[in-house]
Amino acid sequence: MINIAVLVSGGGTNLQALIDAQEAGKIPHGKIKLVLASNEKAYALERAKKHNIETAVVKRKDYGSQDEFDQALISTLKSHQIDMVILAGYLSILGENVIHAYQDRMINIHPSLIPSFCGKGFYGLRVHEAALARGVKVTGATVHYVNEIPDGGKIILQKAVAIEEGDTPEVLQKRVMEQAEWILLPKAAEMVAAKLDEEKTK
Ligand code: GRF
Repeated sequence: MINIAVLVSGGGTNLQALIDAQEAGKIPHGKIKLVLASNEKAYALERAKKHNIETAVVKRKDYGSQDEFDQALISTLKSHQIDMVILAGYLSILGENVIHAYQDRMINIHPSLIPSFCGKGFYGLRVHEAALARGVKVTGATVHYVNEIPDGGKIILQKAVAIEEGDTPEVLQKRVMEQAEWILLPKAAEMVAAKLDEEKTK
């Protein structure tokens, strides 16, 4: 069984998709043991508490440097015996110490078809504003491994979503969440957990 931590910053709809999938038996190789938020106001924390999942808050501004913040994250994850990390709407910058500690064991959901509309500064509604501004007819979501390059890690899954006449960024974001993010993330979580579980038992 792979112990999973989900890192969150906002509403936690992707976390909810993971929780629902777990409770439906769709992530048999993994167990969500911890929800770690970048701020105490993240509604994602309420979602975790409702499902009796342990929570933690580690705030970047409580630490003097990126390294100290990284160390606090790593010790929180290690103290919960976390094997795999899922970034689900997580907005804090992770230093290379954290990324190396979970090399090939950390995944992220991004709300576009990478390599479009990704990298530094592309998050949340900004991603959809850029897609609408460019006039693309198809967008979607991507789950990828996390490495030192923002949204630059190996792609795991992608799913396309049509852009419709008159879409606003908010309407498009909701469609991409419903039709892509909430489907891809649980699927990718199980794929990676199964792979890690197999390696663990080798
Ligand atoms: C959304 O913009 C989503 O597309 C991205 O993170 C943001 C917050 O998602 N993955 P969530 O509702 O907190 O999961």
